[in-house]
Amino acid sequence: MNYCLNTTKSYHAHELDTLGWELTVCNALYPENSPCRNILKTNASLGVSLYRFLEKYIPFSESRNVLEIGGGIGYLLRDFLELNPNLRATALDISPYLLNRQKETLQKYNVRFIQADALKKETVFFTPFDLIIMNENMGDLPTLIPQKGIVPSPTEELLFYQNKASELNSRYYLNFASDEIINIGALMLLENICRADVKYIYLSEHSCDAAVPEEMQKLIDIKPTATPEKITLKGHDEYTIKFSQLQKIAEIFNYKVRRGPIADFLPIEFSNKLTAILRFRTPATDEQEIIQQFVYDLYKYEYLILTK
Ligand SMILES: C[S@@+](CC[C@H](N)C(=O)[O-])C[C@H]1O[C@@H](n2cnc3c(N)ncnc32)[C@H](O)[C@@H]1O
Repeated sequence: MNYCLNTTKSYHAHELDTLGWELTVCNALYPENSPCRNILKTNASLGVSLYRFLEKYIPFSESRNVLEIGGGIGYLLRDFLELNPNLRATALDISPYLLNRQKETLQKYNVRFIQADALKKETVFFTPFDLIIMNENMGDLPTLIPQKGIVPSPTEELLFYQNKASELNSRYYLNFASDEIINIGALMLLENICRADVKYIYLSEHSCDAAVPEEMQKLIDIKPTATPEKITLKGHDEYTIKFSQLQKIAEIFNYKVRRGPIADFLPIEFSNKLTAILRFRTPATDEQEIIQQFVYDLYKYEYLILTK
């Protein structure tokens, strides 16, 4: 099969100058008056709810060295440091604009900032960390897209990623179908971090394997798809992530895997009003549209907690 490469690197490193249009779950939940908070059982930001959830699996008293990759504006790390001032935090991001936003958000705290492409880091860079967090960034990493018909001869970069895909395919029995979109960057980054033997890993992203529980299927339409799906955003395309493949890699490295929709730690408080909003095919107001999208995201985003 021939492929082309989808990469957001140049966009993130050189063009991005706002995250406003790309409303991540973290940013949507951050304002205290966010309408999204009203439909949850916990009236809290993503960082606070996630920290409380992770505490069940990660002994934070002995896991102090934390790396966040692709932290966006930095709200998640700010919540973690507010809840646990003993953490030693490092923030790595490819985007100079967003790293500056993180510096502003985290100015009160002692954080080490690194501007870099996470995919270019050697395994030894990750080894000192007890916990690595990757929230909503794996879909930005390079993706191989199958191409039909006559294609231009491949660039060196494309050949590099194609070779990596066939190595990972045979090493981890990933069984890529011939017409499957491959999350090559996400697979490579997770492999590198697992190889570094980092004790605790948390990641979350749009998942092409996601499904909603049966009782909610009338309200939310999410079905697994065989291959990652394209999401077109300002200046770049992302792809949903095939979580089953990430899970396979982690298991081969002997990680214990906990996996689910982010609704597990952002549980919905169902009311008649919310049910009615979800039943409308076309939202009547901006707020209804935000809530429909947010509820969809709570099930479309999966997380992995990997522990050694
Ligand atoms: C969609 S934003 C998510 C931001 C934040 N984690 C949140 O949930 O709001 C993706 C983040 O990943 C960063 N990113 C994308 N590709 C990266 C790479 N190759 N290495 C490091 N950071 C990257 C972007 O600059 C951005 O901060």
